[in-house]
Amino acid sequence: MRIYDIIYKKRNGEKLTKEEISFVIDGYNKAKIPEYQVSAFLMAVYFSGLNDNETFYLTQAMTNSGKVLDLSFLDGPTADKHSTGGVGDGTSLVIAPVLAACDIYVPMMSGRALGHTGGTLDKLEAIPGFNVNLNIKQFIKILKKNKFAMIGQTKEIAPVDKKMYALRDVTATVESIPLICSSIMSKKIAEGAKNILLDVKTGDGAFMSDYKKAKILAKKMVETGKKFGRNMTAVISDMDSPLGNQIGNSLEVIQTIEVLKNNIKNDFYDLCIELSALTIMQTKKAKDIKQARAVAQKAISSGYALEKFIKMIEYQGGNAKVADNYSLLGKAKNEYIIKAQKTGYIGCIQTRQLGICSCMLGAGRLKTEDKIDWTAGITIYKKTGDVVKKGDIVAKLFYNKAAVEPIANAVKEAFKICTIKPKKIKLIKDIII
Ligand code: URA
Repeated sequence: MRIYDIIYKKRNGEKLTKEEISFVIDGYNKAKIPEYQVSAFLMAVYFSGLNDNETFYLTQAMTNSGKVLDLSFLDGPTADKHSTGGVGDGTSLVIAPVLAACDIYVPMMSGRALGHTGGTLDKLEAIPGFNVNLNIKQFIKILKKNKFAMIGQTKEIAPVDKKMYALRDVTATVESIPLICSSIMSKKIAEGAKNILLDVKTGDGAFMSDYKKAKILAKKMVETGKKFGRNMTAVISDMDSPLGNQIGNSLEVIQTIEVLKNNIKNDFYDLCIELSALTIMQTKKAKDIKQARAVAQKAISSGYALEKFIKMIEYQGGNAKVADNYSLLGKAKNEYIIKAQKTGYIGCIQTRQLGICSCMLGAGRLKTEDKIDWTAGITIYKKTGDVVKKGDIVAKLFYNKAAVEPIANAVKEAFKICTIKPKKIKLIKDIII
């Protein structure tokens, strides 16, 4: 078999066999196929797609590129949640400790920032000393002690996703249904959780901005997960507006801690509660969604979820004092205030543009080897539907090195002010089981 022929076949829209897909993934895993050919393969998949069987084979090959954990020895249900990626979407940081506080084991394996969206791992690494690169033994030890641990794709678990994810990020091949499906599902299957909740984002700031495509992706992931014997739920949630009030790594960590301290009740909090509640339902720890929401809220208001979060930081080598002293996360040297250009309502916020601006301020990468500036990002003061007077602060930019003027202009433009109050955004648009 030759990689050239496989790229050629896919480029021409032909179907690939299980063996051909395994050949690509295995060859890439063992560094026998160079990244330029894998890039070409990814672009061919981007344009020609993969059918359900091919997507399953790809997910299987990626899952089997490393170890597949069997967590059946744990004395309670196992669950995980994963988002397809959004702007300000750090819900995993809240949901994992909330579920752990509800006696659900959460073996969470996440990804880094991708394109204009943030990544859970980068947010965690904004905490000084935090180690996302645990080996399986350490991961399981913490999981047993604290009921949750948060790691990245490792050399042991889903190693191909680790490399391919970074390659897709810089080759404009992220927005592909089969590639997103196999990337997410390979990690989720390999980490061993029996219950999986997927948050598929749709709208301007999502990779699947088109609602119909988001639904196809959600269904495809649910079907793929079921083929591996997992209990699957997917929600389709809004990304036509940034989630919460913070974009950027340390800013989002602070928002997480404030939510866990029960000090914030914004749309970010609401989504954390809904997604936690749906997972609690999956594990049958509540009789209906109302009760499940109450259980999730209690995990926060009791302080138990915060306790779990602090323990996780400690166990994973981070400085847990950040929970009481945010200055330990560092602070950007420069701030730039964005004011409303006129009086009216915030009609919409161009979310993708804001995500790109946050990256340009230093919170994301343009090349795989780029270093992230943890302190860079954007605080949002006015959200869609809010009334603003000319001159009101709508956002603040935080940066160290960026050339700020063009970014500030793009942020200004992203806040569209209109005279008619826009319709309220529905956070969760659909649930697929
Ligand atoms: N999250 C992932 O883990 N993979 C993707 O491809 C997109 C979002």
